[in-house]
Amino acid sequence: MAARPQIREVMASKRISRRRFAGIAAWSTLGLSAPSVASAQAGKSGPNRATFPRGFVWGTATSSYQVEGAVNEDGRGPSIWDRFAHLPGTISDRSTGDTACDHFHRYKEDVRLMKALGTKAYRFSIAWPRVFPDGTGKPNPKGLDFYDRLLDELSAAGIEPYATLYHWDLPQALQDRSGGWTQRETPKAFADYSAYVAKRLSDRVKCFFTINECSRHVHLGHGEGADAPGLKLSRQEQNQVRHHIALGHGLAVQAIRAHARAGTKVGPAENAVSCIPAIETSENIRAAEVATRELNAGYLTVMMEGKYTDAYQASADAPKFTAEDLRIISSPIDFLGVNVYTPDHYVVAASNERGYTLAPFPASFPHMKAGWLKPGPEAIYWVPRHVAKLWKVKSIYITENGTSSSDQPAADGSIYDLDRIMYLRNYLTQLQRATSEGVPLRGYFLWSLMDNFEWGDGFEQRFGLYHVDFETQRRTPKLSAAFYRETIARNAVA
Ligand code: NOJ
Repeated sequence: MAARPQIREVMASKRISRRRFAGIAAWSTLGLSAPSVASAQAGKSGPNRATFPRGFVWGTATSSYQVEGAVNEDGRGPSIWDRFAHLPGTISDRSTGDTACDHFHRYKEDVRLMKALGTKAYRFSIAWPRVFPDGTGKPNPKGLDFYDRLLDELSAAGIEPYATLYHWDLPQALQDRSGGWTQRETPKAFADYSAYVAKRLSDRVKCFFTINECSRHVHLGHGEGADAPGLKLSRQEQNQVRHHIALGHGLAVQAIRAHARAGTKVGPAENAVSCIPAIETSENIRAAEVATRELNAGYLTVMMEGKYTDAYQASADAPKFTAEDLRIISSPIDFLGVNVYTPDHYVVAASNERGYTLAPFPASFPHMKAGWLKPGPEAIYWVPRHVAKLWKVKSIYITENGTSSSDQPAADGSIYDLDRIMYLRNYLTQLQRATSEGVPLRGYFLWSLMDNFEWGDGFEQRFGLYHVDFETQRRTPKLSAAFYRETIARNAVA
């Protein structure tokens, strides 16, 4: 095989345009000069028991505050994350999302990176404070301009957009004026914003996700104070916030039905509490289902069943709600999006009152670069299987999955992120297992397209397939980008 130029040399050559670079990066640094023999064969024929279903959607995911930057452009107002990240002691490396990946200006290059992977879908989020800088009231006339440009670019590249309406960047004005999600004004404001976006963008966006990871937003943002808005509320108050977010989800579903073009689809993108049978016996599997329903009582369960579980309602920390709230929260959805990173609990059947024990993690249980990210590939098999079984869900997306890695460049300048590849290979193998058993999985969005602002961890945890040099904004594919590209080309784990 002919020697390929190192990516640094390629970049150094002034004769090569940015556009051309993305192409070269995709085909040379990814370790491929053409689709591999295996992918060509898989595409043609050949009995391959391990393929994903035909039409399975392969994508990547990002979110507005984590990648866009341009926080003061085109009339954008401040969000709770702008305020929080600028407070001393909130972000481990003292960084902010002020510039992040500068995606606002570099989206064309970024769409080329998506295309180079062979992805056909992109999940991104819309920044509410760009659209309504004050949270409510008059929309910013330039508020959707950036997304218009992005959508046109995606469409030209043949990449289907999946838009998340809320990935935690609440307009600061709503937090200041009415206490954010602690009050009922915010769900209503969210519905108005959703209606406006749906009306304007549903000519090109066919699938909307309402709210990203309600659980983390409540727990870290309103309980631990480690995410914006940095509140440390009581358990009851946190459950009230969760209820308001669930209400916001339901109102947004209704707003989209009322204002979007016919056929627009909508659902949540939640990090369901994942309950894995410690050993796959029928007793443990049943216990893990019971645990899934109970441990997601405050959000997914009420959304799917229209009522809080008896145990949740009976607890001293239960939220206050009306019957009408529950009807709104359980408005029918088109699909369920689940972010799956790690097993939250390994479950063992038990003859106690709740019917299960949550096995404690031994101190020696391994983790990825981030201490919280324990590898448990079977989580991505069990979460979709449980939700499909419990709630007869007909359409499921993995809205996020991935890991951070040290990502040190090797002597030759390449990033051989073997731990990320190991993680992805194992998770995707379990995902394929689920599809092969008929779990109705429609697609998978890898977190993330590129390294970005990882909230309280700043730029210290890198989740991207593309390495980003935050000084120069240079994007360089890691080896995992080649792995993902090959997997997509084969429609099977590479
Ligand atoms: C889930 C969140 O939605 C995303 O914003 C975050 O970067 C990833 N987890 C990794 O922590």
